[in-house]
Amino acid sequence: MRNTTTHAHVIRKLRGRPASDGAGVKLTRVIGSPELDHLDPFLLLDEFGTDRAEADLEGNQLAGFPEHPHRGFETVTYMLNGRMRHKDNHGNEGLLVPGSVQWMTAGRGLVHSEMPEQQEGRMRGFQLWVNLPAKDKMTAPRYQEFAPEQIPSTQPAEGVSVKIIAGEVDGVRGPIVQPATDPIYFDIALAPNAAWQFLLPAGHNAFAYVFEGNASIGDGEDARPLDVQELAVLGGGDTLAVRAGDSGAQLILVAGRPINEPVARHGPFVMNTRQEIMQAFVDFQEGRF
Ligand code: FE2
Repeated sequence: MRNTTTHAHVIRKLRGRPASDGAGVKLTRVIGSPELDHLDPFLLLDEFGTDRAEADLEGNQLAGFPEHPHRGFETVTYMLNGRMRHKDNHGNEGLLVPGSVQWMTAGRGLVHSEMPEQQEGRMRGFQLWVNLPAKDKMTAPRYQEFAPEQIPSTQPAEGVSVKIIAGEVDGVRGPIVQPATDPIYFDIALAPNAAWQFLLPAGHNAFAYVFEGNASIGDGEDARPLDVQELAVLGGGDTLAVRAGDSGAQLILVAGRPINEPVARHGPFVMNTRQEIMQAFVDFQEGRF
């Protein structure tokens, strides 16, 4: 343990921008945009969702992500509301329910569909893309999928509840295992004006994204406000200090060890070189996924 505390501060703040992907799914793209291309090892963060009113107006409740390939990285889907039905070309299929997570290592490649379904008129969640180092890019595809009851939560401070998808809080460990990037993925709910401090792993890149209410990040005079749908890139210290505003807050905190390798990226393929991207297209077209 380090025995001097320096507080992380917001080194960059940005707002997600509306985007559309798959068959017209409405989403807010926060990482993987012109503003923030990536935050090593994170390649993309989308918040997606519809509510019934939107669906009725625009008929987009059946929109989803029909068959598409992935190679060279991991996709992490965390459902807040509604369900996501998924199916791949290796015979894996399932239904993600509210509060569940799927950490999918695409590795050398698979082709899958991801079709959201509303429940009680709502559907909402996150998709995060996590890069893999060169040595793991062509690994066999693998799923780590957990129901809500398999994701532990803890109350590390008054008015603070943390669901631990990956990483550890006060000895409580989340179920995801990925030594390549040693990730943290927390869903943090704070009551009005509740505060929490957390020691970030040394050397990790980290961000926080507020999806309900508002909060401030940083300590004392360094604290900066973070409104709903704003992302803060954290840096310059090892302890996250977060405090909710008057109406409380809910945010995800995500951190991972940077890979520090060249990134060659085209759509659903993320490799190290252009040649590997071209090979991915050939392999996909020739049915080798
Ligand atoms: Fe996908």
